[in-house]
Amino acid sequence: MKIYSFHRDNFSLISRSQIHQISALDEELLKAENWGFEYWSQIVQVDKLQKWCLYWAQRDGDILGFALYQVVGQLVDKNAQWHLCKIVVSESEQNQSIATKLWEAQRRDAPASEIFLEVRASNLKAISFYLKKMMTVVGWAKAQYSDGEAALRMLGPRKKISD
Ligand SMILES: CC(C)(COP(=O)(O)OP(=O)(O)OC[C@H]1O[C@@H](n2cnc3c(N)ncnc32)[C@H](O)[C@@H]1OP(=O)(O)O)[C@@H](O)C(=O)NCCC(=O)NCCS
Repeated sequence: MKIYSFHRDNFSLISRSQIHQISALDEELLKAENWGFEYWSQIVQVDKLQKWCLYWAQRDGDILGFALYQVVGQLVDKNAQWHLCKIVVSESEQNQSIATKLWEAQRRDAPASEIFLEVRASNLKAISFYLKKMMTVVGWAKAQYSDGEAALRMLGPRKKISD
């Protein structure tokens, strides 16, 4: 399994069939919040590299998971805030540290960046994952999702006390 990135400083070109796989995973795991193939195709254009960063995990041509960030501000700014829009791992591949590897790839590319995200208040697996990555709950948004569910807002990663 290897991690690839669509990132300004080190990008792999992404094929139509890979976009199909990502969009299918998005639909399967995030259901009503999936973005659809057309929107995904617009994001992964080379002229969008200042704004979007995509990481994906691949084995034998199969995409197992991905993380998509939107950079708020200028990518050249080492302290820019990155909005983690989606992180998804195929159901059959979960609990094997794939999301962790996707996460670590972003931290290597932009170690000083701050990450912001919103997550469904009921998504305990994702919340537990983010807490382990040193993210902190900073607020919540009532009825953020179309079904009325609230979102937790998280920011980080906070520094370890020993740092
Ligand atoms: C949240 C999500 C991305 C995590 O992906 P993942 O690849 O399973 O994550 P990891 O394997 O890196 O870590 C998850 C857990 O597995 C555990 N784990 C990792 N490797 C392990 C191993 N070898 N053996 C046992 N457990 C392991 C981790 O400790 C972690 O435990 P936790 O639930 O107590 O935090 C995944 O569950 C997912 O795709 N969910 C659906 C989509 C979603 O809701 N995304 C978030 C909102 S966009």
